[in-house]
Amino acid sequence: MDRSFLFRRRIAAQLLGVALAGMGVAAAQGCGNDVDTEGPGGQGGQGGQGGAGGTGLNMVGGSTPAFETKTECFAWPQADAGSGGSGGGGGAGGSGGAGGSMVPPCPPKDAALMHVQSGAPVGYCSAVVNTEGVFEDGECCYEVTYETCGVGRPYLVEGRARAATRTAGRSSWMDSPLPSPDLAGLSPDERALLAVAWTHDGLLEHASIASFGRFALELLAVGAPAELVARAHEAALDEVRHARLAFALASAYAGEPLGPGAFPFAGGAVDVSTNLADIAARAVREGCIGETLASLLAAEQAARATDPAVREALEAIAEDEARHAELAWRAVTWALRSGDATVARAVRAAFVEALAAGVTLEVRAGGAGALEAHGRPEAAVLRASMARALEEVVRPAATALLGSSAAPAGEGRERAERG
Ligand SMILES: [Fe+2]
Ligand SMILES: [Fe+2]
Repeated sequence: MDRSFLFRRRIAAQLLGVALAGMGVAAAQGCGNDVDTEGPGGQGGQGGQGGAGGTGLNMVGGSTPAFETKTECFAWPQADAGSGGSGGGGGAGGSGGAGGSMVPPCPPKDAALMHVQSGAPVGYCSAVVNTEGVFEDGECCYEVTYETCGVGRPYLVEGRARAATRTAGRSSWMDSPLPSPDLAGLSPDERALLAVAWTHDGLLEHASIASFGRFALELLAVGAPAELVARAHEAALDEVRHARLAFALASAYAGEPLGPGAFPFAGGAVDVSTNLADIAARAVREGCIGETLASLLAAEQAARATDPAVREALEAIAEDEARHAELAWRAVTWALRSGDATVARAVRAAFVEALAAGVTLEVRAGGAGALEAHGRPEAAVLRASMARALEEVVRPAATALLGSSAAPAGEGRERAERG
């Protein structure tokens, strides 16, 4: 069901207006049809495991999706799980029992997902538990593979998203007044999942503050107009608000204050590019695509959320992200006008690569019922929403901006596969 149609139409018109203002600049720069439509990584796959070679639509920077496999353990039985656990219960998938007769077997791997995600790397969008649990020293351990592709504006260092880690017990990042979701009717497992999901979003929003801080410096470094620099700083303040909203919701579900730790800048340094082509291509990936999708995804989540506090938070985030997306389109338009054919080629390649790849989001914590009511629809809903966003919003605006049909509707993937 398409519940965010009107919002999508409005954003599409808004971004198309910006793109039309810069219409044909890339073509005028002598960058008509000579761009490799396949992108640097070959055709995109449908996400999933093991495929490190596809371009994917990687919302953390447009490069190859990153896969990370590691062993995740959690205390078992958990203090609040009672003797029955959450999904163990002696089922066929459990494997433990080595700790004594009072210890229930480890939960089957599907039920373990909600526990292991608390240790997931920031920016992940897919988590698959590969093995059944092994009980050892009071813990259940599983092999888990994560795919990193968070939505929104990441802070990238050498192509990988960086973010702080979660702190618990105290937090100055909870918004005031606190949004208070209705916890009645939520099971302990649903609350745990919602706490993890909103914490994850909070850490990504926190990283977006750093990303906009760097973007503002890069705009200064390439002589961008004051309006763009001012908007970048305003956007950073929006991201502070988003982080606080997300951590407030996460804390409510967790029943304890949650927040971000110190941000892990690499060696204390901030890598500021002075290359206009690189900056423009990153603005395409992170902003024109990443923040456009983030906006439309938040609108879809809001349209499905029935909890008033969650709905209000998501509606505010959707509006702000739409403004950030517009900033990115304006910045890219300015870069095309200011730069030479190198910039035009970099911008075109970034769009073509992402549009050819399509949506590769595989799994995301969520589901129907209570989870959707609290802003976490199931993965299929999110994938469909992002696919519509790409086709109905990003692609028309990109085509207008580039002044050609480098990536016509519905042909991106086919074109890539033909090579
Ligand atoms: Fe945000
Ligand atoms: Fe944003």
